[in-house]
Amino acid sequence: MLKVSAPGKCILLGEHAVVYGHPALAVSIDMRLNVNISKQKVKSEFHVVNGELMKSKNHPHIINALDDIWSNEDQMLNINVSSEIPPSAGLGSSAALSVAIATGLIKAKNMNKSLEDISSIAHKFEANAQGGLASPMDTSTSAHGGCILLANKKLGENWLYSRTLGEKKWEIHSFELHDEIKNASIVIGHTGIHGSTAEMVLGVKKRLEENPNLINDIEAINALTKRGVIAIENGDLEALGAVMNLNHSHLQNLGVSCKELDDLVAVARETSLGAKLTGAGGGGCMIALSINPTETARDIELAGGRSYICKFGVEGVKIDENSMIF
Ligand code: PMV
Repeated sequence: MLKVSAPGKCILLGEHAVVYGHPALAVSIDMRLNVNISKQKVKSEFHVVNGELMKSKNHPHIINALDDIWSNEDQMLNINVSSEIPPSAGLGSSAALSVAIATGLIKAKNMNKSLEDISSIAHKFEANAQGGLASPMDTSTSAHGGCILLANKKLGENWLYSRTLGEKKWEIHSFELHDEIKNASIVIGHTGIHGSTAEMVLGVKKRLEENPNLINDIEAINALTKRGVIAIENGDLEALGAVMNLNHSHLQNLGVSCKELDDLVAVARETSLGAKLTGAGGGGCMIALSINPTETARDIELAGGRSYICKFGVEGVKIDENSMIF
């Protein structure tokens, strides 16, 4: 058996502004997706995923990975996927799947690939499964773990590599989290509402056309993200929380929050250092930076949200067990 796990992510700062060329900061969270791979013992023509013959429409990421990495092998596989990451919540569950399955199949074939290669391959699977569109934020954060800054230009010594997809190009950076920052938890509050990323991004574009002054909110988010990076490097939790609060106000101005998110953010702020929506908005999740995570989680639940207490900046993809000879 080959067991691989990869983490989910949340966006700490910079969502939506990143669409207009500004940086965004994501951290890995200690919710992991696990992929177990073993050989099928009897001769078969099909792979089996979670106990059922693989059907492409149900498993686009896995099909992409098998076609790309495993294609010329006769050996059919048993693949089991289990996940702690809530799906369709902006927490990077499909990226974690792409990263974990790519890592597992690469290991099973004894290929030698770096984390950079794996995140690039997984980004391709993610884009294929999503109609050609995917930023490399989720796959990079899941592959490398820690804290990833995505920007449209190289920003100093923390630069890792460039990533392109079609005409788009991103610069990926990695930051060390100061120990003080690791003392806090991120409490995620899930509204239970599914917000569509494409619709939310389109909505911001439309509102910007109608009201060009909204560009000031995009610019403000840009400045806050840069301030947040400094807070993360200096271990300044209070500053990071304050920056998150301000970031949320600008996301509200851009029209991507909603009552449910605002209610959870308001209640979480009472016991935390700062709170904001995370990801596309219109539903989905909010995050609070807290050193009282149990209290923050309790209050989120009392306000009607589903809460998850997470450590963040955790290790990226890893092989948890390799007892199988392929
Ligand atoms: O909810 P997520 O994790 O898909 O994040 C969306 C982030 C946006 O900035 C709104 C869109 C994007 O492509 O970066």
